[in-house]
Amino acid sequence: METERTDQIIDKHHREPSALIQVLLEIQAENHWLPREALERVAERLQVPMTRIQHIATFYKAFSLVPKGKHEIHICVGTACHVRGAQRVLDTVQDLTGIRPGETDLDLKFSLETVNCLGCCALGPVMEIDGKTHGKMAPAQTADVLRNYD
Ligand code: FES
Repeated sequence: METERTDQIIDKHHREPSALIQVLLEIQAENHWLPREALERVAERLQVPMTRIQHIATFYKAFSLVPKGKHEIHICVGTACHVRGAQRVLDTVQDLTGIRPGETDLDLKFSLETVNCLGCCALGPVMEIDGKTHGKMAPAQTADVLRNYD
């Protein structure tokens, strides 16, 4: 993330230390993770200690301190989805992206995670991308859905 862009976000919040979480949320939303350089810039310009930023960034699940892809894929491997073929969906995504659960590709395009239930078991097997649910997935449809994300 460009330092200039980090500065714009900080300035938008008038360099208010009380806006720290909001600033971090905006950096996370735009960049999909929190790079160290950006955090150092925030610490310097908001005059808050790095330890505090580190604490917040590790405490809240919304933040990531490691690179994340532009699109987050969650594949449900809960019982209902499992019996309907979740493994084939997962295999297809792994083949097409080259990544396994917990990983991010080198282009920072996709991050992949498995989850235990997305709360819509009747639609299984379910894949969620950037919060959007795709139900009744089979390998061919999975490939079609992935193609829509650039
Ligand atoms: S088990 Fe997959 S949505 Fe519930």
